[in-house]
Amino acid sequence: MTTAAIIVAAGSGSRFGGDIPKQYQLLGGKPILQYSLDTLAQQVDQVVVVTGAGHARWLQHIQFPENARQVVGGATRQASVLVGLQTLAAQSPQHVLIHDAARPFITTALIQRLLAAQQKHVAVLPVVAVADTLKSADNGLVAATVSRDGLYAAQTPQGFHFKKILAAHAQFQDVAATDDAALAEMAGMPVTMVEGEKRNFKITTAEDMIMANALLPQQIRIGQGFDVHAFGDGNHVTLCGVKIPHNQGLQGHSDADVALHALADALLGSMALGDIGVHFPPSDPQWRGADSRVFLRHAKDLLDARGAVIQNVDVTIIAEAPKILPHRAAMQAVLMADLGLALDQVSIKGTTTEGLGFTGRREGIAAQAVVLTRCV
Ligand code: CTP
Ligand code: MG
Repeated sequence: MTTAAIIVAAGSGSRFGGDIPKQYQLLGGKPILQYSLDTLAQQVDQVVVVTGAGHARWLQHIQFPENARQVVGGATRQASVLVGLQTLAAQSPQHVLIHDAARPFITTALIQRLLAAQQKHVAVLPVVAVADTLKSADNGLVAATVSRDGLYAAQTPQGFHFKKILAAHAQFQDVAATDDAALAEMAGMPVTMVEGEKRNFKITTAEDMIMANALLPQQIRIGQGFDVHAFGDGNHVTLCGVKIPHNQGLQGHSDADVALHALADALLGSMALGDIGVHFPPSDPQWRGADSRVFLRHAKDLLDARGAVIQNVDVTIIAEAPKILPHRAAMQAVLMADLGLALDQVSIKGTTTEGLGFTGRREGIAAQAVVLTRCV
């Protein structure tokens, strides 16, 4: 083994806030830590992820590649890095990259630049030049304008000769530093700057998540669904979760809500997740007479778990009777509640087939639906 990586993820994310430390927050349906873990594990021989003692419940959602393992860190970032370095001491890799889990947008190109620079230098640091004008402050007032000439913001991963950075960390345990290059500097190592990447920013506050989400590559997906139920005896039909009095009922295993079946199929179809027959087999007695909103909400949960956000749904109910328009607002309210959508994202239309075909002969009702989702 020649190159290892340490990802520090033992922090509590106090500036970010909330109950879940930021490195386990979902970004595009995936925990933030998972991004850098996957990218680094592909580029180096071995990865050590340093986590907090009470993080087990969030770690169960992290997929560890074969060459990655996990250890429990310390009270400060510096202490957590030292634990990571000591864990690797037995293998004694030649080089190590030390990275913050809070930087998910680490790229292969950046890692390659660092690894190449490490062939010649003991310590390599990705930086970006400071672009804003800098001010020093005194009690809410500007004390002075600080020249930004020659000033850089330091990023991670920072790359080091393994034995040298382990020695520096061991030597300067009692000197507080916010990055590892600072300890290398104290130990007298020349630290070579490498071009960093603006997108490789650290998620520190909740506001940073808005930027992180905006950076994700978006995928637009489409789904469509179609369903038919035959009329039989009864005094009402259920369409889009709304019970409508009628001189016939719709036959079916569940509540025969043909519109919700088409819509649930469209949602599942948008993520290639099969159809409601797969998820709720008609042969299973527990779905007899079932409220089809259960199917709809289940489809929505499956989309949520994959980070798919519904953009809009459009449902067409094909029936000579009953009339759809008088019930449209109630139907929209059902879909808005179950899918978490706004009124202008939910379209419901009714049409007849002018007396033609099975719907025209009033033998049954057909419904079709299309949905658009956005996901990473
Ligand atoms: N970190 C760590 N061990 C600690 C503290 C921080 O491994 N005792 C990690 C964090 O999980 C993060 C990285 O070091 O990936 C950079 O630290 P920072 O952005 O400051 O994260 P937190 O310390 O979690 O956040 P805050 O300072 O807002 O509490
Ligand atoms: Mg911190």
